[in-house]
Amino acid sequence: MKFTLDATAAPELDTDCLVIGIFEQAPLEGSTKLIDKASKGALQRLIASGDIDTDWKSTTMLHGLDGVKAKRILVLGCGEADKFTTVRYDNVCKSAGAFLKDHISSSAHFCLPELKTSDESPCSAGQAHWRLRQAATNVARSNYRYTATKEPKDDENKPLVSASFNSDSGLKSALDEAGGLARGYQRSTELGNLPPNICTPSFLAKTAQGISDKYDNVSVEILDEDDMSLLKMEALLAVGRGSVNESKLIVLKYDGKDEDSRPVVLVGKGVTFDTGGISLKPGLNMEQMKFDMGGAASVIGAFEACAKMQLSINLVCIVAAVENMPDGNAYRPGDVLTSMSGKTIEVLNTDAEGRLVLCDALTYSQRFNPAALIDVATLTGACVVALGHHASAIMSKHDDLAGELLEAGQEAVDRGWQLPLWDDYQPQIKSTFADMKNVGGMAAGSITAGCFLSRFTADQRWAHIDCAGSTWIWGGDKGSTGRPVGMLTHYLINQAD
Ligand code: BES
Ligand code: MN
Ligand code: ZN
Repeated sequence: MKFTLDATAAPELDTDCLVIGIFEQAPLEGSTKLIDKASKGALQRLIASGDIDTDWKSTTMLHGLDGVKAKRILVLGCGEADKFTTVRYDNVCKSAGAFLKDHISSSAHFCLPELKTSDESPCSAGQAHWRLRQAATNVARSNYRYTATKEPKDDENKPLVSASFNSDSGLKSALDEAGGLARGYQRSTELGNLPPNICTPSFLAKTAQGISDKYDNVSVEILDEDDMSLLKMEALLAVGRGSVNESKLIVLKYDGKDEDSRPVVLVGKGVTFDTGGISLKPGLNMEQMKFDMGGAASVIGAFEACAKMQLSINLVCIVAAVENMPDGNAYRPGDVLTSMSGKTIEVLNTDAEGRLVLCDALTYSQRFNPAALIDVATLTGACVVALGHHASAIMSKHDDLAGELLEAGQEAVDRGWQLPLWDDYQPQIKSTFADMKNVGGMAAGSITAGCFLSRFTADQRWAHIDCAGSTWIWGGDKGSTGRPVGMLTHYLINQAD
């Protein structure tokens, strides 16, 4: 989607669709006041008669208002002014995007209201910057449509092509950031939605190759099973052994800063399909396990966003891409695996495979001497039980790093919530036959998974993000959300000079 800035007064603007926001029982201001004046009080009359709905997230389309050049006006209900938080603002942008996605207008101009609840700016660059970035990112995200394996219906095929925003050119950097975020979300969402017979480990590798081809300062290395055998990644390889689709370790590098500046390293769980293996999952809803590469999709998305914005930062993105299948050659409960680190793992359940692929990827990642090491994974069902689909779980022994991720999530309205990683939980993964076992029992399932990973990152500034609930939505609107691309990308923006 094309983004532009245009500071022309709202009534004068020649556009397919002018988008404005109106609060419940509050005086009109800014662009809405100008439009009301130009149309000789039409807005006020329509609000009074109830023809304009000012409830939060409602949409009303008006046509041919006298004195206003735009063909039509989309009025967004913003609800009570004193409740207009960042989260509410974000949702208003999403409902505008969702409305316009199926609407005949192919271009729109947005004049959105200010936040009312706090004097504090939701980002260091200021409120105007934040509002513009969120509006553009959300409108683009809402415009997403899955077409890879299905023709769009004729009446569906009316995407918004360009969006302009009521702002002067001083805020162009906000649009550049939105362009990066939109690209990252698009990539992550699409990878998450693609079926597991298409989105295989090799497909993820090809995708990474394609990203690397587009940028001079991006390179890629793909390790195949032979390469990983030489590195003694027995844990990762065991998970992929039951699948005919070869496992891959994908390493993307972005050089945005001088060589000796330590990189941020993102590691993603890329289980392209998780049957559970020999500890087979029940059949009902098993197809949702195509989203088990949501962590990988989001680190690839954030990586691409960073490359598109050309942030002044060094970044490495590592994806552990495998398929977990039952087979005569599959690994089994009872197996003891020697990980790349030399630590041994007793497998009690082949469905706790994410931590097995991640532990070797995390050991491998340490050769890059990370300034921060962050893994992202759809690691546990327990995370969905704890936080639902609204927040990603963040675990770290480095409270400063956890704090930076929480703050980035807040800014992006792609929020996280911290869970403890206290050593008190470590005894739950003690094993009789190995250094540890791969499950920690019913209690605190997300935390014991984090504890498992912590054993491979002891001297690292490391954080773990469990995105099992946030990266996909089950039920009616089922599909990938692309999350946590927003949190990760904002984190990277905040780390850059
Ligand atoms: N990919 C799943 C986690 C998952 C389950 C995410 C449901 C979203 C919804 C992971 O590989 C898994 O199967 N975890 C097991 C671990 C258990 C065997 C200790 C789980 O959560 O049930
Ligand atoms: Mn599993
Ligand atoms: Zn899994």
